[in-house]
Amino acid sequence: NLQTSVAGVALSSYLMNASGPKCTTAEELNIIGHSQAAAIVTKSCTFEARQGNPEPRYRDLPLGSIQSMGLPNLGYQAYLDMVPSLKAMGKPVVISISGFSIAENRTMVTAFQQSDADLLEVNFSCPNIPGKPQIAYDFEQTEAALSQLCQLGDKPIGIKLAPYFDMSHFESMAAIIKRYPVKFITCVNSIGNTLVIDPETESPVIKPKGGYGGLCGDYIKPIGLANVRAFRQLLGDDMGIIGVGGIKTGSDAFEYLLAGADAVQIATCFEKEGPSCFQRIEQELSDFMAKKGYQQLSDAKGKLKAL
Ligand code: DHB
Repeated sequence: NLQTSVAGVALSSYLMNASGPKCTTAEELNIIGHSQAAAIVTKSCTFEARQGNPEPRYRDLPLGSIQSMGLPNLGYQAYLDMVPSLKAMGKPVVISISGFSIAENRTMVTAFQQSDADLLEVNFSCPNIPGKPQIAYDFEQTEAALSQLCQLGDKPIGIKLAPYFDMSHFESMAAIIKRYPVKFITCVNSIGNTLVIDPETESPVIKPKGGYGGLCGDYIKPIGLANVRAFRQLLGDDMGIIGVGGIKTGSDAFEYLLAGADAVQIATCFEKEGPSCFQRIEQELSDFMAKKGYQQLSDAKGKLKAL
């Protein structure tokens, strides 16, 4: 009874993996396909295959994780070739696309528009490529990209947003999104360029970019909730909104439901726990809702109460 939909694509439950951990290779995607996750989301692809940043580039933290992977992926053609076998596992396929220019994004979006993928999530918020600012923090660039990416085919286009921390930024980004046929947004990506220091070794805990990396997990749940809630209020009920950030229990997922998310994605918890997290959190969410007397997600979606 946790059926939902995003941009018209039906999902059998509220939870899927986030683009990020354990979704780069065919083998990893096959494991997600056989899990309880409601969809298969691929690692952000680039035009060419990439090795990513030097290791160590990921570290578990007591309250989450920090990472600067640097977009290691097989290159978009490999994911294009994989779409039929991913679809054969019987759930929607969400392709994450992260080109280094509008031209690259156009080429990749056009290619996946002609595939059997269900949703295209264009990543405007990778913080980990040295010298490449996050598009989502540059409103002019965001608008320039959207003006070229939304009319390349009929499949719903969504964008993966960076976390925002100011009401004026929520308003500016919402105003841009409203000018284009963006069908869903995924918020939030990691908080970019944070620094975790190990006082024993007197050094950062990851190697790329002098230790600067994206902060994930428990630390960012209040930020993800704020972003989902703000965009739900600014963009209305017709916008698909996927919540991400610090979900590791059913009650975390329920908080995102109250904030207005149509579905949620799991990254750090999936990295730490593996694919059993999807079934566990789904059961916890279902039990939590039953205890409160809610029959379906719509009974609580967006219904955060005033204090
Ligand atoms: C990577 C990290 C991100 O937060 C993202 O959106 C895309 C890629 C990475 O470092 O691989």
